[in-house]
Amino acid sequence: MDPGHVPTVMILAVVLSLVGTAVTQQHAASFPEDFIFGAATASYQVEGAWNEDGKGENIWDRMLHEHPEYSSNGDNGDVACDSYHKYQEDVQMLKALGVDVYRFSISWARILPTGDLDVINQPGIDYYNNLINELLANGIQPMVTMYHWDLPQALQYIGGWPNPILADYFVEYARLLFDEFGDRVRWWITFNEPASFVGGYSSVGVAAPSQNASGIGDYLAAHTVLRAHARAYRLYDEQYRAAQNGTSDFFGINHYATKFVISGEEGISPSMTRDTGTVLVDTQNYPTGFRNLLNWIAAEYPGYQVVVTENGLRTGAGINDTDRIEYYVSYLDAVLQAVNTDGVPVIGYVAWSLMDNLEWTGGFSVKFGLYEVDFDDPDLPRTPKASAGVMGDIFRTKQLPTDFLQSFV
Ligand SMILES: *[C@@H]1O[C@H](CO)[C@@H](O)[C@H](O)[C@H]1NC(C)=O
Ligand SMILES: *[C@@H]1O[C@H](CO)[C@@H](O)[C@H](O)[C@H]1NC(C)=O
Ligand SMILES: *[C@@H]1O[C@H](CO)[C@@H](O)[C@H](O)[C@H]1NC(C)=O
Repeated sequence: MDPGHVPTVMILAVVLSLVGTAVTQQHAASFPEDFIFGAATASYQVEGAWNEDGKGENIWDRMLHEHPEYSSNGDNGDVACDSYHKYQEDVQMLKALGVDVYRFSISWARILPTGDLDVINQPGIDYYNNLINELLANGIQPMVTMYHWDLPQALQYIGGWPNPILADYFVEYARLLFDEFGDRVRWWITFNEPASFVGGYSSVGVAAPSQNASGIGDYLAAHTVLRAHARAYRLYDEQYRAAQNGTSDFFGINHYATKFVISGEEGISPSMTRDTGTVLVDTQNYPTGFRNLLNWIAAEYPGYQVVVTENGLRTGAGINDTDRIEYYVSYLDAVLQAVNTDGVPVIGYVAWSLMDNLEWTGGFSVKFGLYEVDFDDPDLPRTPKASAGVMGDIFRTKQLPTDFLQSFV
């Protein structure tokens, strides 16, 4: 999740006619038996141990060390939730939630400190082996994001994603991951939110590496990322798919809110914002917008199963998070209607986030967790919020609490 650019679908003004039917329609409140539930995190946001055991520097380390003023309170990921040391506790939290999958990301620089295969950092590989094995021992499937924004700084020295050669580096990194972890990992995701992280090449102080090349750097980066994704996919398809089992492709989507736009021009020139030909009027938590988006995906990409790889609500502090519960239940209700009423092949849903963590430049005061983390206590204790109880029930029973749904009507 990125504070500056809420990832959403853009829906034109016609959507206004659809308001208000979300939770009043009659429909079954049960997900299919084999529906997959999970919770997610990302390496830079939770791991800490930024320079331990041979890990290399990444572009977020660099940016927030050099420019603490870019983030709220000067927060950074040096320690974060300390999941590098506390991963066993994290797995117990996941187990208590009753998840089927844990979506986490691998820190490229923890495994390849220079970004390239010339140095392979065995303690980094050991860490992810330990995490994966701990998950499997607790009946939880790993869902691995290969890149969640923390590019090795060494690759930024040669220009980062706008340099087309980055696709070659990514494919070699992917090959190493498939070799090291592919015997146990059945869920692979190449890139998290490309449209967000290429923003690191279009503006200053929002996302690493903070390069001010709007309308040029971001488009070049996006092109390299598309090529890297395609090539890593081909590599898996040709050399690993058969040996690593009857896998199938899926469409992963992160969703937080609906943007309401009208046609027009805004943003500096040149910029991706300007090129959309739209002006943002409003951003709302609007579950029907999500249901519409899922229907659009099914129509646009027929034949692909869909996994909601992130969905969640930012709040302030506090463990009685009624607002988060209402958000999750109403959005899950929209997913359920897409599945049961509209026939959209959504097969899984992953909540963002397992626990409060470093919300990028938003720092630690923006809370997305099902578990609270007390960042003022050096032990970083975790405490389940009210939402963890409700989501745990949903994950285990595969049913929505209908009494809760009634309360919104
Ligand atoms: C793949 O299938 C083989 C044979 O059925 C099995 O032994 C192995 O554990 C499976 N691997 C994964 C990752 O599921
Ligand atoms: C970034 O580039 C824009 C457009 O060229 C310019 O107006 C702005 O001042 C630059 N910002 C910084 C912080 O350099
Ligand atoms: C939690 O918050 C809700 C709404 O703000 C309130 O009605 C409820 O009493 C609170 N519960 C606890 C245990 O504090």
